[in-house]
Amino acid sequence: MRHILLIAAAVLATNVYAETPRDFLTRFEKEAGAPASAERGARFFTTKQGGEWSCASCHTEKPTQPGRHARTDKAITPLAPAANAERFTDAAKVDKWFRRNCNDTLNRVCSPQEKADVMAWLLALK
Ligand code: HEC
Repeated sequence: MRHILLIAAAVLATNVYAETPRDFLTRFEKEAGAPASAERGARFFTTKQGGEWSCASCHTEKPTQPGRHARTDKAITPLAPAANAERFTDAAKVDKWFRRNCNDTLNRVCSPQEKADVMAWLLALK
């Protein structure tokens, strides 16, 4: 009985908390109040915005490939969901790293529109 309850709880928790990359695109588009543009996302991701790095400095211009941390040289698994099923499945992780990486790259947080655009581009990569 105890096992059945634990399994039921686990299934429920998965249903409530598991998110898909599409869920994040939907959420960011809703927050932005405008549709995303994959083309704009590609430009944003690969262009330096006044700082030392662009997103591509660590995640590469082709995020279906593994990246490398621009400072520590540590390996980073691919960011594109098509190449890495673990990406964009956990809101806490997604929010934490968007905040940290945008601050490192832009010296500010990314806007919902910028996040929506990046998501649209990453989802379009095969
Ligand atoms: C200085 C290196 C560096 C830069 C620049 C960088 N990132 Fe990252 N990023 C990381 C590291 C390290 C992680 C966490 C380790 C991991 O998840 O592989 C990460 C993880 C992420 C995640 C977590 C996704 C998930 O669900 O696992 C997102 C989203 C992300 N980065 C987006 C961005 C965006 C957008 C930019 C540009 C604004 C950017 N990153 C720039 C190093 C970087």
